[in-house]
Amino acid sequence: DWNMPDYIAEAVEAIRKQVGNDEVILGLSGGVDSSVAAALIHRAIGDQLTCVFVDHGLLRLDEGTMVMNMFGKNLGVKVVHVDATEQFMGQLAGVSDPEAKRKIIGREFVEVFQAEAGKLKNAKWLAQGTIYPDVIESAGKGKKTAHTIKSHHNVGGLPETLNLKLLEPLRELFKDEVRELGVALGLPHDMVYRHPFPGPGLGVRILGEVKKDYADLLRRADAIFIDELRATKDEEGKSWYDKTSQAFAVFLPVKSVGVMGDGRTYEYVVALRAVQTQDFMTAHWAHLPHDLLGKVSNRIINEVRGINRVVYDISGKPPATIEWE
Ligand code: XMP
Repeated sequence: DWNMPDYIAEAVEAIRKQVGNDEVILGLSGGVDSSVAAALIHRAIGDQLTCVFVDHGLLRLDEGTMVMNMFGKNLGVKVVHVDATEQFMGQLAGVSDPEAKRKIIGREFVEVFQAEAGKLKNAKWLAQGTIYPDVIESAGKGKKTAHTIKSHHNVGGLPETLNLKLLEPLRELFKDEVRELGVALGLPHDMVYRHPFPGPGLGVRILGEVKKDYADLLRRADAIFIDELRATKDEEGKSWYDKTSQAFAVFLPVKSVGVMGDGRTYEYVVALRAVQTQDFMTAHWAHLPHDLLGKVSNRIINEVRGINRVVYDISGKPPATIEWE
């Protein structure tokens, strides 16, 4: 059992001691780990921290605004917002192999981040939201002391050529501790308890070639699904969002026929995926209520022009994976 205020005071002291007057740069993804790391480091050293938020055009709806409002406006953290959508879309054009897409997204991310880091001439430290399970994973057999640093699959592995020292204030914490810490540091509960989101983002949820138009449709369908999951409540006050480990929409670049009014439509398909899992190594598909699924389907088809069919994924992992790519 740990005492949060004491923990924060100690962590803040340790960070101050470690970095002194140096400047620190941090890649903010909007995910829980990098967000909590940013909030903690900001608490310790304020304006000596600069966050870089790279928007690859494959984020969820309004993610950029949310991150900029929360960190920039509410917490007063220095955040550089880089909209690199064009660059990512350009590099992804014509590429449909899932692993090739991942590689491109990781590589471009490093490039954009490095360019921004290069502008901050006084930065001596690279902060990362590495948590204890990442440390164990990269060390192999659970050796807490190992110095191996996980090449963060979220950011594609930032290169050593940055010549920065690593600052990883969450290295000893488990996920639930990171969340508690985030709330104690003033991050909104909903943000801290969000489902995980993969680094390549919608890039692995648009099957085959990624196009901006597809991403725009998918973002809206996904937001409707998540809104409706959050809007439910059982007897204990829990929503289906709370009761699932991950839920999202997937864009299928396949057209099917539909009817709307007097006309025939010929539009794309969206698949909904919702899973329950402890460790993400195996997972069950979530038995969402049929009326909930029906409502989500109706809303997506009525509100997102370009989608005329919604299907629900009832595959477990294994043999299916959680993501479709
Ligand atoms: P799969 O699809 O392998 O996913 O069952 C297991 C968990 O890992 C996440 N995932 C990723 N996360 N970069 C990430 O940062 C990736 O390339 C990636 N691929 C899958 C997935 O969202 C799920 O939580």
